[in-house]
Amino acid sequence: MRVAIVGATGAVGHELMAVLEKSQQEGKLKFDELQLYASPRSAGSKLTFAGKELTVQVTPDGPIDADVILASAGGSVSKALAHKWIQNGAVVIDNSSAFRYDADVPLVVPEVNGEAALRHKGIIANPNCTTAIAVVAVAPIHRKYGVKRMIVSTYQATSGAGQKGMDELLEQTHVVLHGGEASHKEFVHPIPFNVIPHIDVFQDNGYTKEEMKVQWETQKIIGDDSLKISCTAVRIPTLRTHSEAITLDLAKPATPAEIRELLSTAAGVEVRDDPEGKLYPMPLTATRKYDVEVGRIRESLVFDGGIDLFVSGDQLLKGAALNAVQIAEYLQAHGALGGAVSPQLSAVSP
Ligand code: A2P
Repeated sequence: MRVAIVGATGAVGHELMAVLEKSQQEGKLKFDELQLYASPRSAGSKLTFAGKELTVQVTPDGPIDADVILASAGGSVSKALAHKWIQNGAVVIDNSSAFRYDADVPLVVPEVNGEAALRHKGIIANPNCTTAIAVVAVAPIHRKYGVKRMIVSTYQATSGAGQKGMDELLEQTHVVLHGGEASHKEFVHPIPFNVIPHIDVFQDNGYTKEEMKVQWETQKIIGDDSLKISCTAVRIPTLRTHSEAITLDLAKPATPAEIRELLSTAAGVEVRDDPEGKLYPMPLTATRKYDVEVGRIRESLVFDGGIDLFVSGDQLLKGAALNAVQIAEYLQAHGALGGAVSPQLSAVSP
């Protein structure tokens, strides 16, 4: 079983190495070989995995001889090369938005629709980080109470723009603290001491693409196109972990206590909800945590029987690296990685 990371030197690549190491130690993903790829800029550099130094290679413009390729080098790289990488039978789990809306590419959050991964035709897409974090909390509620409408406001960390985004926050904050004027490159405006309601490009309907991704991707993962979602996506000056205020209009009314109880056993969720004890989700506590924190669970004052809640999830983990590795673990657990073809896979593949 051979694993490859494309974009190994990036922010998500770094997390992929850490999550893979932990997964291997815990006996979840079993593999014997790890290959690291990045741009020619990093070729020859060394990264440490499980105490061993590995050399970063130039990303091939052809097949990669691995069983699973975790790709995190951006949409244009995946779009141009992913179909070439899989020519020798590898499966790509792609972090970019390049293939998420293709009908024959499963978009997967294992806690919600893991079985969709088994229907892949060589490429599996990892959702946008904001969607992945929200859907872990919302899918169990949807299954039991039926979410009809959803309003989301996001508080997104600079790590959403990769390592360069986090570097810009730190460098430009330093500039401002020393009396200078912040400049910007990775973001549309200077990010220190600011919030920017503009992530990705504006669409004809006045929403940004980042905001529309939450509707498109949630519908695809949950498998329900009737679910309506309005989102306002905002970049804030934190390093990592996205937070979201979510309002749910439910088909079947629920009380906050029922939602708290439901989410207390939901996979991938940590209920952190004790306002008296000043306990609620925050980037400070959710960062580097595998579970998505959910709290501030309360009755909606707008939708009868509806619910308001707040989530914080590490964008680089559940929003990216962790979800990708969990997809690989799911495939392997179902005999669909490392050469073996599972009965499930042959049953569902055309
Ligand atoms: P490199 O470090 O050599 O530039 P981030 O999202 O943190 O910006 O990371 C992006 C990742 O994608 C890095 O590992 C980067 O490698 C890699 N990358 C960027 N452009 C290419 C490319 N054209 N081919 C392969 N890897 C690339």
